Amino acid sequence: MPELAFRRLVLGVTGGVAAYKAAELARLLVRSGVEVRVVLTEAATHFLGAATFQAITGQPVYTDLWDTRSPQGMAHIELTRGADAVLVAPASADFMAKLAQGRADDLLSTLCLARDCPLLLAPAMNRQMWEHPATRRNVAQLVADGAVLLGPAVGEQACGESGYGRLLEPQQIVDGLDAHFRPKLLKDRRVLITAGPTYEAIDAVRGITNRSSGKMGYAVARAALEAGAQVTLVSGPTCLEPPPAAQVIPVVSAQQMLEAVESQVDAADIFIAVAAVADYYVLNPSEMKIKKDAHILTLELAPNPDILANVASRPQPPFCVGFAAESENLEEYAELKRRRKHLPLIVANDALEAIGTDEVALLLLDDDGQHRLPRADKLTQARRLIEHIARLYHGLFQ
Ligand code: C5P
Repeated sequence: MPELAFRRLVLGVTGGVAAYKAAELARLLVRSGVEVRVVLTEAATHFLGAATFQAITGQPVYTDLWDTRSPQGMAHIELTRGADAVLVAPASADFMAKLAQGRADDLLSTLCLARDCPLLLAPAMNRQMWEHPATRRNVAQLVADGAVLLGPAVGEQACGESGYGRLLEPQQIVDGLDAHFRPKLLKDRRVLITAGPTYEAIDAVRGITNRSSGKMGYAVARAALEAGAQVTLVSGPTCLEPPPAAQVIPVVSAQQMLEAVESQVDAADIFIAVAAVADYYVLNPSEMKIKKDAHILTLELAPNPDILANVASRPQPPFCVGFAAESENLEEYAELKRRRKHLPLIVANDALEAIGTDEVALLLLDDDGQHRLPRADKLTQARRLIEHIARLYHGLFQ
């Protein structure tokens, strides 16, 4: 997490069952190189003790507004001076209500009011508390005042109910914090991305697909979000959790992917086609399961529409980026594909190395020639790719 190393953070923990996750969060932050100073509300101390955080962070832990350990006896001011951010996780409904009103009756609320650095909140509460009009008003006010929300997630809650209000997992909070510090190269740009394989039905239970995992497309979606873009992810069937802030449109076949892309493309500034779209679909798939017999089964296949080529040949296309997975003559075939589809940029990779794996080497081909991105994990490559796209996009369009 290069954006986090050497950062100074105040981690506020408020009272809620999810407070137990804050210990793991503190551990992950320390592991990422962050200097973490923990401030507990009185309610939080009913769930976790100061000693736990002190041991994890190696720093003194504060709970009391009248703490005299800080040099001038003003912990509520001194703790945030020099800090890169205040992160409150979990942030309870009550604490957010207090912040929205600008109240300052304990150490954490006072330092939030007296700070001169960004404030990030990871809410956690029962789903009805989250949905209550009072909480909605408070959240809207906090966002209008500049606070950044991380989550909440949807899912099972400590009370046994299920819905919005669950604290993000500690690693997701760390990712969100890391993203907050990344340069916003695509701020407010709308980026449309296709990802994963498509599945072309043969009958009710069988189909033609490929080994694409969707990892690269999802990593590109995450990197674009980190760069400040609004992201729509049109995804074929995958087992991956999409980035929480992306608008996701799940599809199955290439035809559905085309329709989803066409419904979104007018609003897109940038289109990145990462999906491994099946080249053919089955004419007249059977609605029932085809019975096995001893005869040869002949399937009639027809070519699928080329989604990327369709988009790139529109009169006013978004900035289009293609992927080319080749198993031989990588550069030559990828460059031919770039020219044939009229793309300003194509990302070439070795099909045998890239599909379904975690690490990959990439070769970017544009009008300036070749740019090699040496082998790395897919998120790192996606971030490098987004930087390259932002450079080309801003050079071309501004
Ligand atoms: O021609 P080829 O399938 O190798 O092109 C790969 C690029 O084109 C990828 O960016 C892929 O997402 C896109 N593509 C598409 N629709 C297709 C086939 C490929 O959008 N039917």
